[in-house]
Amino acid sequence: MSVVRACIVGMGIGRPNGRAIEKNARGTVVALCDVLEDRMQDYAKEFDHDVKLYTDYHEMCKDPEIDAVFVGTPNQYHVPIALEAVKNGKHVMSTKPLADAEGPAKELVEAAEAAGVVNMMSLSMRFSNEIRYLKRLAEQDTFGELYYARARSVRRSGIPDWNLGFVQKGGGAFRDMGVHVLDSSWYLLGMPRPVSVLGVAGAKFGPRGQGYWNYHEVSESYSSAYAADDFGGGFILFEDGTGLQIESFWASHQKDEVNIELFGTEAGAKLKPLQLYKTVNGAPQDVSIEVQQQPTGWDNIANHWIECILDGVPCSAPLRHGLVVQQMMEGLLLSAQLGKEVRLDPAM
Ligand SMILES: NC(=O)c1ccc[n+]([C@@H]2O[C@H](COP(=O)([O-])OP(=O)(O)OC[C@H]3O[C@@H](n4cnc5c(N)ncnc54)[C@H](O)[C@@H]3O)[C@@H](O)[C@H]2O)c1
Repeated sequence: MSVVRACIVGMGIGRPNGRAIEKNARGTVVALCDVLEDRMQDYAKEFDHDVKLYTDYHEMCKDPEIDAVFVGTPNQYHVPIALEAVKNGKHVMSTKPLADAEGPAKELVEAAEAAGVVNMMSLSMRFSNEIRYLKRLAEQDTFGELYYARARSVRRSGIPDWNLGFVQKGGGAFRDMGVHVLDSSWYLLGMPRPVSVLGVAGAKFGPRGQGYWNYHEVSESYSSAYAADDFGGGFILFEDGTGLQIESFWASHQKDEVNIELFGTEAGAKLKPLQLYKTVNGAPQDVSIEVQQQPTGWDNIANHWIECILDGVPCSAPLRHGLVVQQMMEGLLLSAQLGKEVRLDPAM
C-alpha cells in the first residue's frame, strides 16, 4: 500500500480530519459516511476527485477500496462503527472520547488489538503544537519531577445544541471537553497509572434550558432529554504519587477558560498563554513561548496515522490510551454518583 484510502464517518468533526488526510500526499479520502446525505454532498464539494457516499456504515465497512476509517459521530456510535471497521480489517481512528461508557471502550480496544490494525485516537489537544512543545520539554527533563497538574475546561454558556447525542446518556461535559484537558495533562505527566478518583458532577444548567451554546434558546424537547453532566470536577491520584486536579464545565458563571498548569521540581508551565516558569540564580524567570502553527494539530494527527499505517511507526495515541482516559472519566462520574472515592485498576 502506498496511499491510505480513508472513509470519513460523521460530517461535523470529520471535516477537519478529512481535510488533513487529503493534504498528506500519502493519504486520500475516498468515501464519506453519514446518515444525512445533504451534509455529505456539501462536504464532497471540497474534493477535486470523486468520493463515494454511504448512509449505512455496515455497507461502507465492506468496501474493499477503503483501507482506513475515521469515526466522528456522536459518542454513542463511536464503538459500534469502529468495531465494524476493525472486524472488516480496516485501520481505525476515533474522535474523542473513545466511547460513551467503559464497557464498550474496552470491547473495542480488545477487538482492534486482536485484529492487528492501526488503532488511534484523534486528539486535537494532545496533537496541538503547544502540547507537543511541552511534551518535548518534559522528555528533555526540563521540569525535573512532574508531581502535580491542574487542568480545566470552563465554558460560560457552551452546551452543544446541534445534536441530541451530546446531552443524552453517554454524552455530557466531561466526555466532551474534560476529556481533552484530562488526556493532555495525563500525557504530559508521563501517563502514570491512575489508582483512585474522587469527583463531583451534575447538571445545573442544561435541564433548566440554560447555558446552551452562545446563549441560544433550545426547545423544551431538547432540554428535557438532558441525561448527562454539565459540570464535573475532581482529583485523580496516580500510583507514583502524582496528583491531577481536573474540572470541566459546559456552563457556569465564570469566564471561559481552557488551561493546564504543570508543577515540576525544576520548572513549571502554563498552557495558555504558553509559559515556562523557572528559578535562575535565585530569581524567578518566566519565559513566554510562541510555537509554530504549521503543520496544524489536525495535520499532526493525520500525518501520524498515515505514517503508522504505511511505515509501521508505533502509534503514540492508541485507542488503549483512550480507554485509560475513559476509565478515569467514568470513575470520576461514578464517584460523584456514589459520593465516595472510586478505585481504578486500568490494564496499561
Ligand atoms: N476537537 C475535537 O477533536 C472535537 C471537536 C468537536 C467534536 N468532537 C467529537 O466529534 C463527535 C461528533 O461531534 P460533532 O460536533 O462533529 O457533531 P455533529 O452533530 O456536527 O456531527 C456528527 C455527525 O454524525 C452523523 N451520524 C450520527 N449517527 C451516525 C451513524 N450511525 N452513521 C453515520 N453518521 C452518523 C450525524 O448525522 C452528524 O452529521 C463527538 O463525539 C465529539 O466529542 C471532537
